[in-house]
Amino acid sequence: MAEEYVVVKDLYKSFKDIKAVDGVSFDIKKGEIFGLLGPNGAGKTTTIRMLSTVLPADKGEISIGGHSVRADAEAVRALIGVCPQELALYEDLSALDNMVFFGRMAGMEGRAAREQAMRNLKLMGLEGRAKGKVSKFSGGMKRRINLAIALMGSPELLFLDEPTVGIDPQSRNHIFQNVLELQKGGLTVLYTTHYMEEADRLCQRTAIMDGGQIIALDTPRNLKSKIGSPDKVTLEDVFLNLTGRSLRD
Ligand SMILES: Nc1ncnc2c1ncn2[C@@H]1O[C@H](COP(=O)(O)OP(=O)(O)OP(=O)(O)O)[C@@H](O)[C@H]1O
Ligand SMILES: [Mg+2]
Repeated sequence: MAEEYVVVKDLYKSFKDIKAVDGVSFDIKKGEIFGLLGPNGAGKTTTIRMLSTVLPADKGEISIGGHSVRADAEAVRALIGVCPQELALYEDLSALDNMVFFGRMAGMEGRAAREQAMRNLKLMGLEGRAKGKVSKFSGGMKRRINLAIALMGSPELLFLDEPTVGIDPQSRNHIFQNVLELQKGGLTVLYTTHYMEEADRLCQRTAIMDGGQIIALDTPRNLKSKIGSPDKVTLEDVFLNLTGRSLRD
């Protein structure tokens, strides 16, 4: 198995009396697509925010590409791309200007940022809309732009926090194909989703979180084989079996 690119040890984060992340440990291998599943409020986004240097952990250690997030956040930021759950786009700017802006934020020089922005827009099937204002884009187009932005600066590790919410099967498939292509190029991915079939299709290993803790972590096939024949049960069966049927929030 490949080397560990991400190592998370005993991570904690509380917001007042809410234990959002409550003692989480896992690793992600280089080149792996690692799934993080869990009901609403499980702590997935909070985990990603700590890994991506946005939110300080109360306790625990995170290492990315050999750099400690606590000690060397700058080095970590140079290695990562983040596709946030809430769209982070400037509606009044064009697609291209959004991408160039975020490329510059990632430390790219103007010309290089423009060139990569055009490449990434092409990757997302949006090169014809480069000059279009984002406010005029459909939901699926905005999601694809959100992903194209995360790829600015050519990260080694990509955080995808529910990248396929509210989009049609065509856009979703397009995103899948891109993620798989990027993986072939060596990209490591942390992928969260509420669509179990996505995790089953994309992820080499998947953690299931609930109440701030990881309650299972394995390959999709091994997770399924815990409750039945892996060719008959779905990851959704496993998920409901482990997390129960009560609503979270
Ligand atoms: N900034 C914050 N202030 C207070 N509480 C927060 C904050 N961020 C998250 N929480 C709480 O922490 C818990 C975990 O939230 P988080 O967003 O990490 O869950 P999630 O697994 O990403 O859920 P979802 O699937 O709905 O996106 C929730 O109870 C949430 O209300
Ligand atoms: Mg979330």
